[in-house]
Amino acid sequence: MASYNLLLLPGDGIGPEVMAEVEKLVGWYGRRGIARFETEKDLVGGSAYDAHGKAISDAAMARAQAADAVLFGAVGGPKWDKVPYEHRPEAGLLRLRKELGLFANLRPAICYPALADASSLKRELVEGLDIIIVRELTGGVYFGEPKEIVTLENGEKRAVDTQLYTTHEIERIARVAFELARKRRNKVSSAEKRNVMKTGVLWNEVVTRVHGAEYADVELEHVLADNCGMQLVRNPKQYDVIVTDNLFGDILSDVAAMLTGSLGMLPSASLGAEDPATGKRKALYEPVHGSAPDIAGKGLANPIAMIGSFAMALRYSFGLVAEADMLEKAIANVLASGLRTKDIAAAGTNAVGTREIGDAVVAELDRLAA
Ligand code: IPM
Ligand code: MN
Repeated sequence: MASYNLLLLPGDGIGPEVMAEVEKLVGWYGRRGIARFETEKDLVGGSAYDAHGKAISDAAMARAQAADAVLFGAVGGPKWDKVPYEHRPEAGLLRLRKELGLFANLRPAICYPALADASSLKRELVEGLDIIIVRELTGGVYFGEPKEIVTLENGEKRAVDTQLYTTHEIERIARVAFELARKRRNKVSSAEKRNVMKTGVLWNEVVTRVHGAEYADVELEHVLADNCGMQLVRNPKQYDVIVTDNLFGDILSDVAAMLTGSLGMLPSASLGAEDPATGKRKALYEPVHGSAPDIAGKGLANPIAMIGSFAMALRYSFGLVAEADMLEKAIANVLASGLRTKDIAAAGTNAVGTREIGDAVVAELDRLAA
């Protein structure tokens, strides 16, 4: 039985609660003789700041570098609103992305049939929705320098963030999008703002060139990022793969997430480049939702995005494609059976807690594997 090292970084807020449901699954795969996952746990975000004065310790970073995959919960909360900017909880996640070189963030937005009515859009617009946002994750305005607030001579302050992209950063994310499209409905929509941004002009140019040279069999369209946001709420099913930069991807993926009924539903995978020698790539899997401090510790959080993120790990890090399909099927079946956490429950119906959903997924896996 293959054996893999998983680093679990539950983080803050509801992070530990949703991670506990994935730990049940980890045990299940071992008991079934499918794969042995050796897990280690460490701190990230506000909890790491409280323990070490940093949003992630160097020791945790070293463990992340050594792991076959990292599973990440969520970070942040009002408790850390006043910590210095460089130590804010989010800095732990950004350091992981940057130092592990996780440039490709895959954010699928799938509307489970049972949840079409939980969406804020009409059922016919979202039913059967299956799109994926490919977000560039290690460049752009998140990391561009200078990034600072300076005081001017007249006492005013001036804040600067720098949006910056180089050719190879755009080429490699474009390739990820085209490769994915070939395994899906063969269409890529590239979103930028070339009408006002130089990075948009270059983005458009490079995506067009990579398409012509290597992926002419894939349908490519260019869309302005603001229009893409509008189209996502007007007619989301027109899309297959959307490829976009770090900041637009952050925003558009929140929009896409809500189409599916709840932010609590969306998993994501952040992948690095393939190591030519080993064929392995660094990877981190995390739900798109945040730490939800308002419901933390109450057992109410929806663990489906975290469980779905583990399914993505099975698929992209461990080559366990049939197992990933089965886990996604188990999630769909649990939803179809009517079990709902509060975020997706229809008004007037009874909601269950985080643990009940996790237990039901395990029970469903037992049934599907029998
Ligand atoms: C996300 C989050 C992060 C981001 C935050 C927590 C830094 O919103 O993963 O979408 O902005 O990338
Ligand atoms: Mn976000």
